[in-house]
Amino acid sequence: MKRVDDFRLRLGKQELVPIMVGGMGVDISTAELSLEAARLGGIGHISDAMVPTVSDRRFNTKYVKNKLRQFKFNVANSDKAIVKFDLGLLAEATALHVGRTMEAKRGDGLIFINCMEKLTMNAPKETLRVRLKAALDAGIDGITLAAGLHLGSFALIEDHPRFRDVKLGIIVSSLRALQLFLKKSARTNRLPDYVVIEGPLAGGHLGFGMDWSQYDLAKIVLEIQDWMKAEQLDIPLIPAGGIFTGSDAVAFLEMGAAAVQVATRFTVSTECGLPQDVQQEYLRASEDDIVVNTISPTGYPMRMLKNSPAIGSGIRPNCEAFGYLLDSAGNCQYIEAYNREVAAHPDAKKVQVWDKTCLCTHMRNFELWTCGHYTYRLKDTTRRNDDGSYQLLSAEHIFRDYQFSTDNKIALPE
Ligand SMILES: Cc1cc2nc3c(=O)[nH]c(=O)nc-3n(C[C@H](O)[C@H](O)[C@H](O)COP(=O)(O)O)c2cc1C
Repeated sequence: MKRVDDFRLRLGKQELVPIMVGGMGVDISTAELSLEAARLGGIGHISDAMVPTVSDRRFNTKYVKNKLRQFKFNVANSDKAIVKFDLGLLAEATALHVGRTMEAKRGDGLIFINCMEKLTMNAPKETLRVRLKAALDAGIDGITLAAGLHLGSFALIEDHPRFRDVKLGIIVSSLRALQLFLKKSARTNRLPDYVVIEGPLAGGHLGFGMDWSQYDLAKIVLEIQDWMKAEQLDIPLIPAGGIFTGSDAVAFLEMGAAAVQVATRFTVSTECGLPQDVQQEYLRASEDDIVVNTISPTGYPMRMLKNSPAIGSGIRPNCEAFGYLLDSAGNCQYIEAYNREVAAHPDAKKVQVWDKTCLCTHMRNFELWTCGHYTYRLKDTTRRNDDGSYQLLSAEHIFRDYQFSTDNKIALPE
């Protein structure tokens, strides 16, 4: 019986353990977690979601405080068009986050950044270009284009000196999305170096509608594989979503996948950015505690724990401090939902908003507990402490369990 370690991911000249730890936004996949994956010979991801916010936490910078001070006069105004990011400061924050992570890298693996197009930041093209370029300047090994179709993203960096040598990948959930991307980026004369195929059981935002449960990851992978063969395209495919054991991973590698992307198992690692009390919520969760809903203002369905404090919360939009989801006209679906509730309850001190959530604030505060479908199996990956809580695991333990386990077994910690 084969193990993941019997396979290797080839990316250009590089040979890697075929395990990629997926990006988990707003510093759930921390630099520490990505550094462990790279040290062990695989690929780790940091995330470019809310980098100024993450930089403030990591390096004690004051980007958020200063932005709030600059736009404080607008807090009560529901028109947020004026609340723009300073592109120079955005580049600076990205350079800090990426640069410090790359300086700390050890081992043969790689560190990529997960970059979400849906973070439109009140100037989608300009802010995305700055984020991508700053990450390239700061020496990132690769960029995974996520959450969005990214039809113009390659063109944004085609004149960068590293455009042809940095690893560039895209996340898709369908053949059609991949075809569209390839067609639109053909002009840049550069194919992606890898394609992550994310199925319906993944954590975070889903690239499906609310009919997500009708889809099957293996089927999508086969469909994409067949099409690529017919087109004589050779791009490493990396399935993601619900790959919970080494044996699950081997099944995809035997099918011809180049590697797997995994995330949920690492949410209970000591290197993960989630606070420990939240990690215990993940460990305690049963299948009924997990829901896919449409409260994210991005318009994508998102999977989360039902008891996330963000659900139903009616806090005032915090765009002057954050504002990462403002579209090019300064709108966010949460602002509309919040204003509607305030207008309907003019005398209420606090309102509740059920259909949308203030994603920026709640992700920043770890109050939106997004998770993968198999989160309810995390309790089977560890032991209980005397006080009833669950033992957290090292990222190395989880990584090596994926790498070496067989027979669907999961190694428990010492
Ligand atoms: C807590 C959490 C947060 C996530 N955040 C992001 C994100 O910010 N961007 C992204 O592209 N994918 C995100 N994902 C998806 C993962 O990168 C990965 O593709 C997927 O969850 C793999 O499936 P698994 O969790 O079943 O292993 C997230 C997943 C989890 C569990």
